[in-house]
Amino acid sequence: MILNAVLFGHGSHEAAWRAPDARATAPLELAHWLACARAAEAAGFDGLFLGDILCLQDRPEHHPSETVDPFMVLAALAGATERLRLTGTASTSFNHPWHLARRILSLHHLSGGRAGWNIVTSSYPQEAANFGWDEMPATADRYALAEDVVQAVRALWAQWDGVERVADKASGRYLSRAPDQTAHRGRYGATGGPVNLSPAPHARPLLAQAGSSAEGMAFAARHADHVFTVQSDMASAKAFRAPIRAGAAAAGRDSDAVKVLPGVVAFIAETREKAEAQLQTLTDRIGLDHLLVKLGRFTGLSFDGFDLDRELPFGPDDLQENRFSNSRAHLLLAEARRNRLTLRQLIARFAAGRGHLLLVGTGADVARVLKDWVAEGAADGFNIMPPELPQDIATFGKHVMPHLRGGVG
Ligand SMILES: Cc1cc2nc3c(=O)[nH]c(=O)nc-3n(C[C@H](O)[C@H](O)[C@H](O)COP(=O)(O)O)c2cc1C
Repeated sequence: MILNAVLFGHGSHEAAWRAPDARATAPLELAHWLACARAAEAAGFDGLFLGDILCLQDRPEHHPSETVDPFMVLAALAGATERLRLTGTASTSFNHPWHLARRILSLHHLSGGRAGWNIVTSSYPQEAANFGWDEMPATADRYALAEDVVQAVRALWAQWDGVERVADKASGRYLSRAPDQTAHRGRYGATGGPVNLSPAPHARPLLAQAGSSAEGMAFAARHADHVFTVQSDMASAKAFRAPIRAGAAAAGRDSDAVKVLPGVVAFIAETREKAEAQLQTLTDRIGLDHLLVKLGRFTGLSFDGFDLDRELPFGPDDLQENRFSNSRAHLLLAEARRNRLTLRQLIARFAAGRGHLLLVGTGADVARVLKDWVAEGAADGFNIMPPELPQDIATFGKHVMPHLRGGVG
């Protein structure tokens, strides 16, 4: 079971920054990331996963959305960790393939072969504006560009195949031959290459992908080693994993080479009551106004004038195609309908995990669910999204890991 720790600002709960001992500037300080990374390595995680977006979020005056560049953080963490896979997010919409090829290989070298690239297409209109676009293209167009960019990056890395770093001081020979000079010419652009770093002596960096539309799944089947996905129940997770594996096989890959990793937000304590109390404390700190806007962004709906305490009248059938994430909008509204949630309850659920699998209980409770999902073919592992950082990494290590890694239960 692959287990990554997802490091998201003050934690994945939207109100984590408002805890009495949370420091507002923590995610801007290296000490915070070092504490998270060291805790994750000590707890036995396989890797760290850092998301990224290229803008301040909606209503930035109401919550922290300043974000340091994930590859800079990961390069610093490379020096403080020995084992962890270090996966950072970079957008195919706003980076040139040559820059991507070099940035990821730089982390790969500095970490001794532990780099991963989480390939995203970006979603926010503010990101489009930051790069001079009027709006984000529709999903299919974003993934067409992503395909081109990833092919270019892979071609840049592959130019070094068969090139040996001889580094023979006596003869003065450094490379066995010069790498090729034409990497890729695609629909959206070209790159000559070579990139000025070879992947060797390591295997190529890991490729991760996050996105659940039909285009996103087909893309994952072609390219991804790890697929980060939002799944709130086992049946949907199985229905997601099976076609990804089939698509990988159809693309000539070993289906076991694609690992599907649903996100999990887990509130864990010695007793269920204590775990529920941690969630309730955070729920009580939610900023409703900002989250209404954010939920509107994620679903493409407006909640203006809605009674917070009435059952939500919308269902997944009411959704219009949007350019943010149709898959997430569908999941959130399907869950609201299934559980007959009021708007207030949906916001609490959204604040805790934005639709990811939410678990509240003891370490044994959480471990049981994770094991079941893997045993039933719903997952190959999980992206664990600690609600409050850094402390909840150690909590997971203490309460859940012994059941998973140590064979307890
Ligand atoms: C679990 C998950 C994590 C994501 N993380 C990021 C991220 O850090 N940055 C980003 O720009 N997009 C992120 N995305 C967005 C996707 O890249 C994609 O743009 C979006 O989900 C819409 O595509 P889809 O309809 O295929 O899901 C994430 C998506 C998922 C499902």
